[in-house]
Amino acid sequence: MRQSKPATVLDALVIGAGFAGLYQLYCLRERAGLSVKVLEAAGDLGGTWYWNRYPGARCDSESHSYCYFFSKALYQDWEWTERYPGPAEILRYLHHVADRFDLKRSIRFGARVVAAHYDEEENHWEVTTQDGTRYRAAYLVCAVGCLSSANVPDIPGLESFAGRWYHTGEWPHDGVDFRGMRVGQIGTGSTGIQAAPAIAGTAKHLTVFQRTAQYSVPARNAPIDEAFKHHVRESYDAIREVVRSTPNGHPFRIHRRNAFDVGAEERQAIYEAAWEKGGLQFRASFRDLVLDKRANDTAAEFIKKKIRAIVRNPKTAAILADIDHPYAAKRPPIDTDYFETFNRDNVTLVDLRAEPIERITPAGIRTRAREYPLDTLVFATGFDAMTGPLVRMDIRGRGGLKLGEAWRDGPQTYLGLQVPGFPNLFTVTGPGSPSVLTNMPVAIEQHVDWITDCISWMRTRGVERCEPKVDAAERWSEQVNEAANATLLPLATHSWYLGANVPGKPRVFMPYAGGLARYRALCDDVAAKGYEGFVMERSLTAPVRP
Ligand SMILES: Cc1cc2nc3c(=O)[nH]c(=O)nc-3n(C[C@H](O)[C@H](O)[C@H](O)COP(=O)(O)OP(=O)(O)OC[C@H]3O[C@@H](n4cnc5c(N)ncnc54)[C@H](O)[C@@H]3O)c2cc1C
Ligand SMILES: NC(=O)c1ccc[n+]([C@@H]2O[C@H](COP(=O)([O-])OP(=O)(O)OC[C@H]3O[C@@H](n4cnc5c(N)ncnc54)[C@H](OP(=O)(O)O)[C@@H]3O)[C@@H](O)[C@H]2O)c1
Repeated sequence: MRQSKPATVLDALVIGAGFAGLYQLYCLRERAGLSVKVLEAAGDLGGTWYWNRYPGARCDSESHSYCYFFSKALYQDWEWTERYPGPAEILRYLHHVADRFDLKRSIRFGARVVAAHYDEEENHWEVTTQDGTRYRAAYLVCAVGCLSSANVPDIPGLESFAGRWYHTGEWPHDGVDFRGMRVGQIGTGSTGIQAAPAIAGTAKHLTVFQRTAQYSVPARNAPIDEAFKHHVRESYDAIREVVRSTPNGHPFRIHRRNAFDVGAEERQAIYEAAWEKGGLQFRASFRDLVLDKRANDTAAEFIKKKIRAIVRNPKTAAILADIDHPYAAKRPPIDTDYFETFNRDNVTLVDLRAEPIERITPAGIRTRAREYPLDTLVFATGFDAMTGPLVRMDIRGRGGLKLGEAWRDGPQTYLGLQVPGFPNLFTVTGPGSPSVLTNMPVAIEQHVDWITDCISWMRTRGVERCEPKVDAAERWSEQVNEAANATLLPLATHSWYLGANVPGKPRVFMPYAGGLARYRALCDDVAAKGYEGFVMERSLTAPVRP
């Protein structure tokens, strides 16, 4: 690494230029008045939507909530065209935001951060990008995303494959031409469920390799009509109130009734209506769907029946409906014609539970049962979620402690915002926060606002260092566990929420499942009590009493 030029000195550095990094930049520069730079590995802004341009990609939050709420004028000026926009429209929106608030001048693209070391004596972070450029800043905000480190499984023989292979999370921007190709897709999570119908539409043949069957509910994506656009513009305050007060940040309320408050016939009618309406609202049909296994079974059985009704080949239907975990214990996908895709002549389903992959060969994929000849491979195999993007950087705190070492047994944070031993380092939607269990822009705004307020609080009081107490972080980990254990979520033992999709990763339930509204109240309370649980140091020797 070249280390010739002196380090650029700033008040704050932000890593990542997705929803989180853009808003963090705006807040620190415009509200807190700091000198700030954003370092972004990608060639442009957008984060998730810069990288995930695979066929069929869309959001599953409804467009009128998958956006910023911090500016009413911004909210009302922008018009979404679809219920669930794809990457192109979301990127247009994010560029619109960046232009409106003149953000691009403070972002360096193509700047992958490889190291961030805390200098205890100088109380600053020394940050190095891949090309050796160095920066120094008092505050370091990691807005690196929860789902930004592609997980390519270590399947023997990949290097020998004669065709091309792609990971959906690093999709080529000029697209992939599947015409005439025999495509093998590994993975049937939210991504695979979106990609398969789109790939099947152009490929000569698509073979879907399924390890774990998943529930899915139709998205029912559609253009947004003028009446709804008008409603959204006029209802900013009401929509904002809903996304801020529901547990998951979505623009709909979870019904207060329990699944067994109604009779079987009425329950069936409620599920039918939710299925017809489409989208994640299905999960909100009853209050206790992710709390009570018996309640959950009713939703699970409803969806399994739908699968068996849609898919004509009973053997294929049985493999797709052989789902081993409660509904919504893994992130529940929504789809456009996913199960219908298996009625196409050019689509085959392979059950990896019955015939695991043995290796990739030059000609395709060999399972225990046979070889599948393939021209192209698509890995829809997800991400090293939540901790991956953080520990892949060489982050070192006090005494040179590596973040990866500190988190060897699983991530430990206070409120998902800070890590003991790593002063003045903040994580937006870090492990231990509601993050991926929510409509993320809402969670992102809450975190960014809190971090900005905290830094402003420090500066107005001459506080130089902010770091969580070890016992506060330990207690928070217990609360994160308790919140998860009060739900059915840990029952999906192969979920990425638990880190189970990455071999060797510690099995710790990472997001906070207690709900965004409750979490917001906890964070506000901590701040109101002078940042209770954090050590705030005015100098190296004089802790501040709030
Ligand atoms: C396909 C897909 C669909 C999704 N749909 C939804 C949805 O409908 N609703 C929802 O709420 N959430 C959804 N999510 C989650 C989504 O990640 C968030 O909604 C949101 O985009 C996260 O924004 P972010 O800024 O926190 O992170 P990201 O958008 O992931 O941005 C992080 C940025 O940090 C950069 N970065 C990481 N490491 C480094 C480094 N070392 N140096 C420099 N830069 C770095 C990355 O390049 C990236 O650009 C989806 C995720 C995926 C993968
Ligand atoms: N808005 C949206 O609609 C949308 C779209 C895409 C993604 N997302 C977000 O991104 C998250 C990640 O979704 P994702 O689908 O990319 O990842 P994912 O949910 O982790 O799914 C990965 C899939 O790959 C399979 N897999 C992984 N390694 C494998 C291996 N070695 N052999 C065979 N199969 C393997 C997994 O099987 P196992 O289940 O057995 O591990 C799973 O089916 C989602 O949960 C969601 O939060 C949202």
